[in-house]
Amino acid sequence: MRILVVHGPNLNLLGQREPGIYGTKTLGEINAQIERRAAELGVTVVAFQSNSEGDIIDFLQAQAPQAEGIVINPGALTHYGLSLRDAIASLAKPTIEVHLSNIYAREDWRRNSVISPVALGQISGLGGRGYIAALEALAALPGKPE
Ligand code: DQA
Repeated sequence: MRILVVHGPNLNLLGQREPGIYGTKTLGEINAQIERRAAELGVTVVAFQSNSEGDIIDFLQAQAPQAEGIVINPGALTHYGLSLRDAIASLAKPTIEVHLSNIYAREDWRRNSVISPVALGQISGLGGRGYIAALEALAALPGKPE
């Protein structure tokens, strides 16, 4: 089973970016944690980060046909990334939206996600553990390939 893990704009700066909100782990450390759990689950993870919506869409269009699911933290694209939303809708793969912070406990404009209507589910506010929970949920989906 292959799962895509996508990190959107500014998440390359994790560890130094507003650590009181996003924590002190770097993106490399978070990806390593995801990889460790994926290995236990027998899942292959393909991780990608970009600050550009178009590059994320290009990655998803190229990789999703060979994948069984998507874990994505769209960063601020969550709130206005309609091209990303349409890409996820067109790919029709189970997609879990993850946010390190609780987007409902912050500024009002963060409360709206244009991604969640096309996602299987959303995990918000659990820090890096959210990615692990999303991975476990996708790995447990019925009908998944062995
Ligand atoms: C975020 C929340 C977004 O509102 C913000 O723009 C981010 C990170 C999170 O992981 O909590 O870049 O997606």
